[in-house]
Amino acid sequence: MCGIVGFTGTRQAAPILLEGLSKLEYRGYDSAGIAVRDGDGRTEVVKAKGRLKALEEKTDCGLAMKGCCGIGHTRWATHGEPSEANAHPHISDDMDVVAVHNGIIENFREIKEKLSKKGYTFYSQTDTEAVVKLIDYYYKKYNSGPVDAISKAMVRVRGSYALAVMFKDHPGEIYAARKDSPMIIGVENGEAYLASDVPAILKHTRNVYYIGNLELAKLSPEGVEFYNIDGDIIEKEPTEIKWDAESAEKGGYAHFMIKEIHEQPKAVSDTLASAVKDGRIDLSAVGLSDEDIEGIGQIIIVACGSSYHVGISAQYVIEDLARIPVRVELASEFRYRDPILKKDDMVIFISQSGETADTLEALRDVKRRGIRTLAIVNVVGSSIAREADNVFYTLAGPEIAVATTKAYSTQLIVCYLLAVQFAKVRGEIDEERYVSLISELMSLPAKMQRLLDDKERIQWFASKFSNSKDIFFIGRGIDYAICMEGSLKLKEISYIHSEAYAAGELKHGTISLIEDGTLVVGVLTQNDLFEKIISNMVEVKSRGAYLMGLTTYGHYNIEDTVDFTVYTPQTDEHFTPSLAIIPLQLMAYYVSLAKGLDADKPRNLAKSVTVE
Ligand code: F6R
Repeated sequence: MCGIVGFTGTRQAAPILLEGLSKLEYRGYDSAGIAVRDGDGRTEVVKAKGRLKALEEKTDCGLAMKGCCGIGHTRWATHGEPSEANAHPHISDDMDVVAVHNGIIENFREIKEKLSKKGYTFYSQTDTEAVVKLIDYYYKKYNSGPVDAISKAMVRVRGSYALAVMFKDHPGEIYAARKDSPMIIGVENGEAYLASDVPAILKHTRNVYYIGNLELAKLSPEGVEFYNIDGDIIEKEPTEIKWDAESAEKGGYAHFMIKEIHEQPKAVSDTLASAVKDGRIDLSAVGLSDEDIEGIGQIIIVACGSSYHVGISAQYVIEDLARIPVRVELASEFRYRDPILKKDDMVIFISQSGETADTLEALRDVKRRGIRTLAIVNVVGSSIAREADNVFYTLAGPEIAVATTKAYSTQLIVCYLLAVQFAKVRGEIDEERYVSLISELMSLPAKMQRLLDDKERIQWFASKFSNSKDIFFIGRGIDYAICMEGSLKLKEISYIHSEAYAAGELKHGTISLIEDGTLVVGVLTQNDLFEKIISNMVEVKSRGAYLMGLTTYGHYNIEDTVDFTVYTPQTDEHFTPSLAIIPLQLMAYYVSLAKGLDADKPRNLAKSVTVE
């Protein structure tokens, strides 16, 4: 969703802000803007609808704007259409206060009404303009400085926000406040940076502070000061970011997505190495003891999108290996009912960003009920990571492409590790099986690499089907979970309508959609279900479908039925999603490429969904 950057120091701010915004493009946006303040408090604001390029052109790549302190924003429209007027920064009528905002202010209409009566005029349809003017109102009414004015506004507004604000009387200073929307602050050599996410400032600093909920910060070339909502100074320690700056660059690939697809063997291998020591799984860093594991009554997995699909795969694996009942829930549904949870339940939240609004709220709800929570998160220090009782970090590194690939793969690995360890601790598998499952896990990165080395066939096949109207994915059991992710990958970046079906469900309605030439991808990685899926594929073939089969080496008889086959290396059947997903990710990417689309920035989508 919206991206925020801020800079104050001794260099010109505008080029740094534009560069920072370009690193946040992956979050999704439809307009952008920057505000730069010079030493005398003079402010210049430039905004543009569309891509950052338009803003760069308007500002001569930032060179036309003078000043060493500024804020910038990429906007993903929530209130008001994408337009220059609705783009941020927004300003108070006299330009005393300038601000950018990420989040949603729920009671903005009420605030607008109140301020209109006090003589304020509104020029945009946004909720943000109401906050900017509210801060200006308190700033002038109480004359007690920026922290006081912002705190008073924080008490008055309802919703979520990451705010960066500049005040005319305080040149060189940026004030930040946050509730439920991500924001980080970096400090290095007399310069201070602010951003919605690490990649925007990674080039400049690795020392990052996380602002907590309902906290404020003042950035200046002298450093950063933090305050609670009462205006008292609070102390914070920086966290060192270990991601290397290159991992946030394209490094010769046409898109981040294809680069991240290729990074999967390493990401998986790093994640495995973080928990497998001397051939055994060690969950001590996660904080899970054997007693904790023995005491689990039921597991509930809560997540959104692809992370939810990981949960579906995990359900099969955990139930099968550890014999613990597992429920998988969409966070956006789970949080709005009154789920029945027991004291010995463990609720696992899966999130790449650690900031997905629905997942975060679901976590808070579960914590209020006193139930144990475990988060599987990629972004260190993100809200979900900080608020869960236990955290298992995926080591995927920064994921920039909107469509997740390497984070998905590392989340799967974490779920396998939990399943195998839970199974061993609870006596469901013996030592021999334990050792063999771990060794199978350790062999996955090399097998993933083999699939990547053979990508040209998929590229050729993808280009043949890039004009499809509909594509269906069918499978049973774990293969159905793979289909769900394969179908989402394809539709989100190629805009081809696609659905995943549990193959046994086809006859209950969907089969009527099959026409001559409709591509149906069957996933068949499970021995017991192989024949059943083949029968379903024959059924659609006889209605005109063109069949692609995705199976493991050895199942050569599939070629009697299907038109195009992709084989994956053999592995334990529980772990097949890690391999089968790679050809499907490649297929989605190459279909999007053949259609001339930008796979990294699919329309209408945002990387991190920080509003519900
Ligand atoms: C799809 C995709 C999304 C995310 C979902 C959850 O490719 O990336 O479906 O999986 O928005 O995001 P996180 O994992 O950050 O909570």
